[in-house]
Amino acid sequence: MKYFNFIRLLLTFLFMLYFYLETLPADRAVQSLIVQKAEQSRDKIISIRHYLHMYPELSNREYKTSEYIAQTLEKLGLEVKRGVAKTGVVGLLKGEKSGLTVGIRADMDALPIQEVNDIPYSSKNPGIMHACGHDIHMAVALGTAKVLSEMRDKIKGNVKFIFQPAEEGAPDGEEGGAALMIKEGVLENPEVSAIFGLHIFPDLKVGTIGYNLTTTMASVDKFEVIVKGKRAHGAYPWESIDPVVTASQIILGWQTIISRQIDIRNPAVLTVGIFEIYGETGRFNIIPEKVRLIGTVRSLSDGTRKQVEEKMRRISQNIARANGAEINLFKYVHSTPVVVNNPELVQKTLPGIKEVVGSENVISVKPSMGGEDFEFFMEKIPGFFFRLGIRNEEKGISPSALHTADLMVDEDAIIIGVKVMANILVDYLEREGN
Ligand code: NI
Repeated sequence: MKYFNFIRLLLTFLFMLYFYLETLPADRAVQSLIVQKAEQSRDKIISIRHYLHMYPELSNREYKTSEYIAQTLEKLGLEVKRGVAKTGVVGLLKGEKSGLTVGIRADMDALPIQEVNDIPYSSKNPGIMHACGHDIHMAVALGTAKVLSEMRDKIKGNVKFIFQPAEEGAPDGEEGGAALMIKEGVLENPEVSAIFGLHIFPDLKVGTIGYNLTTTMASVDKFEVIVKGKRAHGAYPWESIDPVVTASQIILGWQTIISRQIDIRNPAVLTVGIFEIYGETGRFNIIPEKVRLIGTVRSLSDGTRKQVEEKMRRISQNIARANGAEINLFKYVHSTPVVVNNPELVQKTLPGIKEVVGSENVISVKPSMGGEDFEFFMEKIPGFFFRLGIRNEEKGISPSALHTADLMVDEDAIIIGVKVMANILVDYLEREGN
């Protein structure tokens, strides 16, 4: 009799549990399923990151990375396209219910940096390192693919996984990156209606997500200026037109663009990274004929971007003329545009992120003066590019910056990234697909 009572109690409990789950909002149930599946796959996802970290490859040369991603996606049952924009991979996951197609992008390339971390999975490719976290971005995307491939019945539409080469810029003379993927039709067949991406961020603690409603990263331009004077012996400067002094004045002149000529409420940065004698070997007692300046300009608005370029040109030419020198070359290359999120999409997406990590951990941050070619996607369709916290002082993980030889990441961030991404994508399809 006791046994019978127990069975009855158990059945009542199960019935109540079933009833409780049924009355939960659908998205809440899906969300806890995502969390559960991400946790179950934790070890697998972290091992994916270790593999990618061990075998970093440079922009447009991501051959092994590309094959590894394609095979992983195929094993999960996705439709896979290889060789998009050279080494890019696109995976399509079809939900059981029909609907829209949403995109997630992860960048694939590493940097020409020798890793100094002594860890079991440190880079095996000399002089190359995933020092910008693209290994993390790929692991998050592959983890998301794994989680979502196990719950197709809950997905209303398709998810397109876009693995993009050459985010750091294609080698000279080559095309590549987001722009080339778009040119090759990555946003079509099926048409992608919105895109999401993330970047690790050293300033943010693990467990937090940083975002901007609109402008989130700066435009990136590269300039090269050659100042031509007249060569002379260093002992007889009056016989020269000194390009070293002229170039120095030009650099100081440019400083007033930022401090005095643009509206500082729309900030910009101008940095000269290289100041060198051009076309000959210098000597301590020779005034050379030419000097070359190479550097970068960053800005957070298109208007400021245009102004800085115009003012740089004017100041260079007029200071050169004032000294009797000339500007031999003024080359100004626009590399990537200002990165601007779609505010409506951000606002609709935030509640879902807050449910995963807690509202106190979703932080509005200042825009970054770093750049990203993700904007090329957002020029075509609405998008949201946000930041993933990776810092953990208690574990001794306090990275100073990206692109450094000792960059370390708290790997819990990967699993958090998977939970957030999977949730955002399913949510979007559910919300917008009606
Ligand atoms: Ni990066």
